[in-house]
Amino acid sequence: MNILLTGGAGYIGSHTIVELDKAGHSVVVVDNLVNSSEESLNRVAKIIGKQVPFVKADVRDAVSMNAIFDKYKIDAVINFAGLKAVGESVAKPLEYYENNMNACFVLLNVMRKHNCKNFIFSSSATVYGDPAIIPITEECPKGECTNPYGKTKSMLEEVLIDLQKADPEWNIVLLRYFNPIGAHESGLIGENPNGIPNNLMPYITQTAVGLRKELGVFGNDYDTPDGTGVRDYIHVCDLAAGHVCALQAIDRKCGLAIYNLGTGHGYSVLDVVRAFEKANGVKVPYSIKPRRAGDIATCYCNPAKAKAELGWEAKYGIEEMCRDAWNFQKNNPEGY
Ligand code: NAD
Ligand code: UFG
Repeated sequence: MNILLTGGAGYIGSHTIVELDKAGHSVVVVDNLVNSSEESLNRVAKIIGKQVPFVKADVRDAVSMNAIFDKYKIDAVINFAGLKAVGESVAKPLEYYENNMNACFVLLNVMRKHNCKNFIFSSSATVYGDPAIIPITEECPKGECTNPYGKTKSMLEEVLIDLQKADPEWNIVLLRYFNPIGAHESGLIGENPNGIPNNLMPYITQTAVGLRKELGVFGNDYDTPDGTGVRDYIHVCDLAAGHVCALQAIDRKCGLAIYNLGTGHGYSVLDVVRAFEKANGVKVPYSIKPRRAGDIATCYCNPAKAKAELGWEAKYGIEEMCRDAWNFQKNNPEGY
């Protein structure tokens, strides 16, 4: 298939290009580079042996999006484009709603106009709020999101569900990602956050490489085995492969489908610190800090549905996630 990746220069998008190419698909990338660098696409070219077509444009720009659909025969779209920093979304709600919602609306309109009705959406475990069921299945009711970023994911899910109901020609897959970490084994592509990292693994790797003094562990009084937050970390290459499998659902005209993409294992913050130190033989100094507003104690999934219906399951464990995250950081101490 010929797949358009919006936000394809970003962390998950760049890894997904590699998996799509491996599976024999062609890729076109559109990205405005607001949170990424074109260098990631040059690195992808080194891995797959060819440069993928890239259009630098904002997905909210309907003229540019129409031009892409006129030029390339697009069979399906994977919509990675979006702003994703939880804290920033609280400070800049209008920017987050405007970017994430409008980009999706413009895209869906342009797709409809070109009769391309196959869509994969990057959703998030955040839509479960403080989950009612652990491990989380797709039947778990959605919960209250505590920040505008999470609300854009939850609201766009509703928009997409309504759209597919109104026009059953659409095939729409909502992929609820758990916590992607790690990097491609080559060390060429990986997570490259701007400024001070918000997420655990980039903070750990930047501490280990000496860019940060110590990791702050946000709370050790949660109702978890060691008191620190428990999450379902998933290797980004496994997550990327999940998108290739989701295309099979589209191929067999799934209508609307929802899948959790996680490993089904929960690791605490201190588990991850220890696993990182063991896998890489480096120390990660840390100290306990107060809880971070909006955090929940435990979040991990039951990934059985994706296995049963897509034949997808995570291959990599926490050791490989830590090894590959460190490999990228070591090879790129200042990022791309
Ligand atoms: P990322 O920031 O690395 O990638 C997103 C890309 O979208 C960036 O390259 C950015 O430049 C681009 N972009 C943003 N707004 C755009 C616009 N209006 N037009 C064109 N390009 C635009 O983030 P990521 O980690 O690769 O995440 C990809 C998607 O997955 C996002 O939608 C994110 O919300 C979602 N997601 C990520 C995580 C995670 O932990 N990384 C978890 C759940 C869901
Ligand atoms: N943590 C620390 N110190 C840090 C960063 C994080 O102790 O410096 C802890 C958090 O408190 C949490 C765990 O590490 O217990 C994971 O935190 P992350 O910020 O890495 O991930 P979250 O689970 O909070 O959020 C991530 C994405 C969201 C997404 C959510 C669910 O950042 O975008 O997963 O998919 F919505």
